[in-house]
Amino acid sequence: METESKGNIIELRGITQTYDEGKTVIIKDLDLIVQDKPAQGQFVVLLGMSGCGKSTVLRYIAGLQKPTSGTVLLNGKPVGRDNRVSMVFQQYSSMPWLTVLDNVALALEYKGVNKKEREEKAMEMIKLVGLDGHQHKYAQYPTLSGGQLQRVAIARSLLANAQVLLMDEPFGALDVKTRLQMQDMLSELWMKFHLTIVFVTHDLAEAVYLGDDIYIMKSPPSKIVEHMQVDLPFYRTREIKKDAKFVQLVQELEDRMVKVSNMS
Ligand SMILES: Nc1ncnc2c1ncn2[C@@H]1O[C@H](COP(=O)(O)OP(=O)(O)OP(=O)(O)O)[C@@H](O)[C@H]1O
Ligand SMILES: [Mg+2]
Repeated sequence: METESKGNIIELRGITQTYDEGKTVIIKDLDLIVQDKPAQGQFVVLLGMSGCGKSTVLRYIAGLQKPTSGTVLLNGKPVGRDNRVSMVFQQYSSMPWLTVLDNVALALEYKGVNKKEREEKAMEMIKLVGLDGHQHKYAQYPTLSGGQLQRVAIARSLLANAQVLLMDEPFGALDVKTRLQMQDMLSELWMKFHLTIVFVTHDLAEAVYLGDDIYIMKSPPSKIVEHMQVDLPFYRTREIKKDAKFVQLVQELEDRMVKVSNMS
């Protein structure tokens, strides 16, 4: 564990992504370094115009795609099968033919844990994400609402003992109230489990509320061109959104987004 904790948890260096035999350049010279803070975790937010490659970057970290060139390391090693990385997609990432309980417990089935223990541990997570009472429902819309389905995906990731949680616009399809509840739940889980979260959103207030480090990507050929450290208390509640400092940070972020959108 000691050696694992040192250095960078995520390291992307000199990434280039091209398609059509090099004719379409999507990403060029992208670097993204996330330091490991094992006793705390990290909340990194990725922003950028549609099509700039945010989901692509998450896919690299998840090991679902390899860049055309460049290095992708997790804990200093190439992305491999044993990485503790989970992905929560905008479109719900659960199996609709399984119940909530089975969906969450699936995280342990792969590890060969027996059924009784799987279900006990899954129920702990189901309670933690506020789904107690829904465990025997099928994980499908509209049996479960959009927010509830995202909770299933989060519970499964936590039970899988994810060290890195990749979230691709996870609350984009939710109504305002559910979205705010989900933000607070995620924030609490993040602090409890010391997760490293890489979170993609188009919502600037959400970015400032949840994030510690916000990175902005410019449009293709894209790379990260802005980094904003969110200088707010570690523990945040919704009240902070009325704070002058919070409002100022959202404004500053908007200015930086405008600046980036004018870059070629
Ligand atoms: N196989 C492919 N061939 C050509 N272009 C591709 C291919 N796969 C992805 N792209 C392009 O890569 C770019 C980046 O896509 P990506 O999904 O990462 O963007 P994004 O930043 O997540 O956008 P959004 O905010 O809309 O989700 C897009 O312009 C897309 O068209
Ligand atoms: Mg995307």
